[in-house]
Formats: sequence, structure tokens, C-alpha cells
Amino acid sequence: LCLFLDSASEEEWAKWLPSGIFAGVTTNPIILERDGRECNVAALTELARQALEYDAVQEFQVQTWGESSDEMWKNGIALAKYDPDVIVVKVPATFDGIKAANALVADGIRVTLTAAYASHQAVLAAAVGANYVAPYLGRMNDAGRDGFGTIVEMQKTADKLDSDMRILVASVRNVADIAKLAAEGCDTFTISAKVAEDMFADPLTQQAAIDFDAAAERIGAYAEEKA
Ligand code: E4P
Repeated sequence: LCLFLDSASEEEWAKWLPSGIFAGVTTNPIILERDGRECNVAALTELARQALEYDAVQEFQVQTWGESSDEMWKNGIALAKYDPDVIVVKVPATFDGIKAANALVADGIRVTLTAAYASHQAVLAAAVGANYVAPYLGRMNDAGRDGFGTIVEMQKTADKLDSDMRILVASVRNVADIAKLAAEGCDTFTISAKVAEDMFADPLTQQAAIDFDAAAERIGAYAEEKA
């Protein structure tokens, strides 16, 4: 199972990445704008460098941009140059995006086909040889589509195909959806800092931990430290 933190915020990284549960970071231009970052190759390369300073982080997913497939490909190549083993270039699943993704894959760059809103886009992603396809759970639901059913179908497709492509569930709004999708075989999620917070916030677990500690103290657990 693989979790990513969907954030470009220094504070959120500092809070959540040391937990060790995140194998990488995902970003896109909207997240960069929200978190006060710039969208250009130099700034994003520096951001990748900073993310990789966290021990558990092995991947930095960053979105390319451009008004044509050629521009998207060119920017993708420039972004991946920092280290093709750790940079994954995100490309939206439009016609131009898919053309760019194809070219990037042919150049040995790892790719995520992003902004997926329908099951057949997993087929497109597999045809391209993408490493990931990122369906937007919450946004599908917002648009009146069946986010859960679509993602389960995509995962089934990925499982049946002889491909290493992973379904990277994005636009996750609550922890219950993660649990339900994981029970259906989904194993890759990118989550916001807010959802990360909820992952660790079960009040009964918190109370149990306090009770354990109190019992430990009553029977001498801290005696040496206090002496
Ligand atoms: C992924 O690239 C998107 O950042 C994301 O998961 C969208 O989340 P939202 O729909 O909650 O904005």
C-alpha cells in the first residue's frame, strides 16, 4: 500500500512527512498556488529537492503544463531531469495530455495520467503505459457521478491487465472512503493534510493510549526518569 501527501505546503510537509507513512508527495498547479509556490521548472526542481529531504519520501509527483502536447512534453522532460527515478510527471487525461504522456513514457519518464473522472480513462492510461492514473473521487461525486463505483471498476481493470499501473485515488475527502476502497483492493491514495489529520484522530484510540500510559505510570514506568 502506498500513500502520498497531496500538498506543497512547508508546514504540512513538516507536520506529516516525518510520520513515515507517506512514500511521496503529489502536487498540481492549484495546490502550488494555494500553498504560495511558483510554477516553473527551477522552482519545482527546488521543491522536489526539499521534499526528498524527508527520509520516507521516494517520489515527487509534479504536473506539467503547456498549450500543446509538445509544450507539455518539453516541460515534463525538464521537470523529470532533476532525477527521473524520483520525479513522476502528472499529465491531465486530455487528448494533448495523452499525446504528451505517450511521448514522455517513450523517453523513459514516469507518468501519472491525472484528472480522471471515468473508468475508461484507466484503459487510456494503460494504453499509454502510464505508471499511475489518478481518479478524482470527491470531484466525481460533486459532479453527480459514482466516484466509488468508478474507482472500484478502474482497480478491477488494473488488476486484470498485465500492467504495473496503479490507481492513485485522489480528491479524497474522508477516511471512511479510504477504508472502503482499500477493502475493494485499492492500494494507492493521495490525501490532503486535513485527511491525514483525520487518519490519526480516532478519539477512542486517543483515550485508550492515555489509559495505557496512566496504567504504565501507576506501575512504575516513569519511576527511573523521575528519580
Ligand atoms: C489531485 O491532484 C488533486 O489535488 C486533488 O486530489 C483534488 O482534491 P479536491 O477535489 O479535494 O480539490
